[in-house]
Amino acid sequence: MEKDFTLLMTRDRTMVEEALAGMFREEPRYADLQEAMEYSLLAGGKRIRPVLTLEVCRMCGGDPQDALPFACALEMIHTYSLIHDDLPAMDDDQLRRGRPTNHVVYGEATAILAGDGLLTSAFEQLAKGNLPAQRIVEAVACLARNAGPEGMVGGQALDMAGEGRSMTRGELERLQSLKTGALISAAAELGCIAAGGSAQQRQKVRDYAQALGRAFQVQDDILDVTSTDEELGKSVGSDRVNEKTTFVTALGLEGSRALVEELTQRAVDALAGFEQADFLIWLAQSLAKRTH
Ligand code: IPE
Ligand code: IPE
Ligand code: MG
Ligand code: MG
Ligand code: MG
Repeated sequence: MEKDFTLLMTRDRTMVEEALAGMFREEPRYADLQEAMEYSLLAGGKRIRPVLTLEVCRMCGGDPQDALPFACALEMIHTYSLIHDDLPAMDDDQLRRGRPTNHVVYGEATAILAGDGLLTSAFEQLAKGNLPAQRIVEAVACLARNAGPEGMVGGQALDMAGEGRSMTRGELERLQSLKTGALISAAAELGCIAAGGSAQQRQKVRDYAQALGRAFQVQDDILDVTSTDEELGKSVGSDRVNEKTTFVTALGLEGSRALVEELTQRAVDALAGFEQADFLIWLAQSLAKRTH
């Protein structure tokens, strides 16, 4: 069973990689903008979010192929968020996806523009979906809300404003659920929208993804302390240098690990009632054990 899930994951990732690579067939036109976008987008991230989009679509009775433009749009926005997150004015990191960060290679101006380019082109991708117009409109609204000031960007603002001071557990929860949970939730909801899922399905999928997203960020905070640059492909110790409040500073390592377990169970429980939830249950459980 484990092997089947790994194979399915590899197949989904390949679908996403090929679709993302296919966007860069045109000749580069505007200085090194396109090269910088491609540099970060095709650097081999884990692709958890687009896989979620495809597999939620399948679980809700749709064809994952229909959800592919939505999945790519999500990964483009996620990648832009990473490029900007690494900038000197933000986390000031030098390593991402196993490579020097975008601004280290292309300079800050191009890195900012590469992020802007990915964000904007993501909405063009959404609009290319071969789906009823109503589903595309819903997808645009969902992605815009979760990526914007009421979602990821808002969370990043709270994260920056929190540097150098301690935060309450409540503040930390809110920050993390916005900066990471919102895009993971959007990834899952886009899959449900592509499938034409019901409001009830969408609510369950959202509950699953919100718990999963929170577990994912707690694990990210743990790995920032326990892992290595080589294993993670990004600079460890960044949170301490930037004096961030994280789940590790708030709860300690053991408390954080217990929270990952609890949230993972909550994610699994949210899928009760779906007939084809095996893969997404396995995904939540395997992400709780991830080492990169
Ligand atoms: C990193 O996300 C940023 C967080 C929200 C924790 P990922 O760990 O999914 O990064 P990639 O896409 O695999 O590089
Ligand atoms: C960033 O959180 C989440 C984003 C919106 C990009 P982190 O700053 O913890 O992400 P990493 O650890 O640099 O990937
Ligand atoms: Mg950050
Ligand atoms: Mg960071
Ligand atoms: Mg981190």
